[in-house]
Amino acid sequence: MKTLTGKPANPAPSDGRTHLQELIDEALQGGGSQRVEEQHRKGKLTARERIDLLLDEGSFEEFDILKTGRAGSIGQDRRYPGDGVVTGHGAIDGREVFVFSQDFTVVGGSLGEAHSQKICKVMDHAVRVGAPVIGLNDSGGARIQEGVDALAAYGEIFNRNVLASGVVPQISCIMGPCAGGAVYSPAMTDFTFMVGAASYMFVTGPNVVKTVTHQEISFDDLGGAEVHGRISGVAHFTPPNDILCLREVRRLINYLPSNNRQTSPILDLKDPIERTDPALDFLVPVNPNHTYDMNVLIYSILDGAEFMEVQPHHARNIIIGFGRLGGQTIGLIANQPAALAGVLDIHASAKAARFVRFCDAFNIPLICLVDVPGFMPGPEQEHGGIIRHGAKLLYAFVEATVPRITVIVRKAYGGAYVVMNSKHIRCDINYAWPTAEIAVLGPRGAAEVIYRKDIQAAPDPEAALSGKTEEYRQTFANPFLAAKRGYIDDVIFPRDTRHRLIRSLQFLEGKKMERPDRKHGNIPL
Ligand code: HXC
Repeated sequence: MKTLTGKPANPAPSDGRTHLQELIDEALQGGGSQRVEEQHRKGKLTARERIDLLLDEGSFEEFDILKTGRAGSIGQDRRYPGDGVVTGHGAIDGREVFVFSQDFTVVGGSLGEAHSQKICKVMDHAVRVGAPVIGLNDSGGARIQEGVDALAAYGEIFNRNVLASGVVPQISCIMGPCAGGAVYSPAMTDFTFMVGAASYMFVTGPNVVKTVTHQEISFDDLGGAEVHGRISGVAHFTPPNDILCLREVRRLINYLPSNNRQTSPILDLKDPIERTDPALDFLVPVNPNHTYDMNVLIYSILDGAEFMEVQPHHARNIIIGFGRLGGQTIGLIANQPAALAGVLDIHASAKAARFVRFCDAFNIPLICLVDVPGFMPGPEQEHGGIIRHGAKLLYAFVEATVPRITVIVRKAYGGAYVVMNSKHIRCDINYAWPTAEIAVLGPRGAAEVIYRKDIQAAPDPEAALSGKTEEYRQTFANPFLAAKRGYIDDVIFPRDTRHRLIRSLQFLEGKKMERPDRKHGNIPL
């Protein structure tokens, strides 16, 4: 640990220097050994231990270690060293990041005026210099003793979250409580990690739920990591403990640029660009009703078979995440035929749309792997607003100006074909495998509509339907009509997919595309 002057902590002869050392020592103790022990007993690390694990060794430079709140607020008869949050900057694999780490051992990590000012300072620096902000949250929320000042303090952070959005990556780790309006700061950041058993997030806790709805529910069932990772989609990653969480944050940072003016760092994983995978020629089953796992294709094409999946447990019918092709970070969006047949529903659309917008904001090219039978039918989806949510994904793709490449692997039907990064919505390069089926409707549904009278008049309607379905499949459900029109740039052998993607990314590197001048668009939220 360095002192504020960057010199080693060292008791000095002068009064001022001794006093400084005493203040630093006091701040380093946080809430004291008893509370630190309690923190460890809960399986949690302290604010400073977390920073040590997050950043490159010895790289942390602290701000405001001496800052305390104003004494004299109601019931607040003392000031707390560091005011319950450790802030500063350091490096992750040599690249600068800004960090704040709430200290639950000091008044429960609660957020008051000074605490917020410290966080705001690092956010302001981050935007000015163009470096990511990482928030390690472990807090009882607004500091009750500070009243409206604590609410105002949250407002200051919310402002900065919004103004930094799309300028520098913002990452939140929820490593303890996060309740009430406090949840909205992480919700506005780009990625939220929630640590296994230690964390929870909710707008109103179990007690309020019981009073208002007479429903009994545990903290975990209401807003634990599992719930937010699987059902709500609020959490993008749910590592089991602090150590793995911080390791995964480092991994994520490695895929991202430091700000919206830069591109992601190139990392050579020594995986040949020309590498082919003949097994891919047999990935798609002969029977179109049989399924397969899209992950086989994803892990086959990416550099070093490395893929960081985002929201892996939520809306599993669509896969999103980061990987590298030829060393360059790409954002990948893929339908997953092994979950709900890869259909687009409300959750899948919203999940993919937000990811597309993140990648576009931070100059990360988009790769889209398509096997989609259409949008999910039914009153639950219609009443839940599949029209509005599906439109988010369409809007996000149309708006994206980064290099965009699509590979249609198998099904691409109806509106879902257009939405999944088709040529018609300004995708740059569209490939299809020979197994691709591109049409307005699935063969059976289409045959039922256009041959209805013939089928009804046939002596064996079911046999007639099968025959017409096959006829339709042969004529329409293939990639060749689309290729003739130029909607598909090339029908490629599956084994060559990696090579073709990398070559396309290389020529798209200089892509420039303008959007019309406007204040902002109006995405269907
Ligand atoms: C002041 C707080 C505090 C808070 C905790 N503490 N939360 N002090 N303001 N918000 C203090 C406790 O008094 C205690 O001090 C110490 O932190 C540790 O808390 P414990 O309760 O002993 O810890 P634990 O048993 O682990 O329980 C954690 C907890 C509980 C569930 C978070 O502390 C709690 O319910 N706190 C209040 C939560 C809350 O209602 N916050 C406001 C949410 S609304 P001592 O000295 O006794 O050790 C909100 C609005 C934001 O945040 C609005 C934004 C617009």
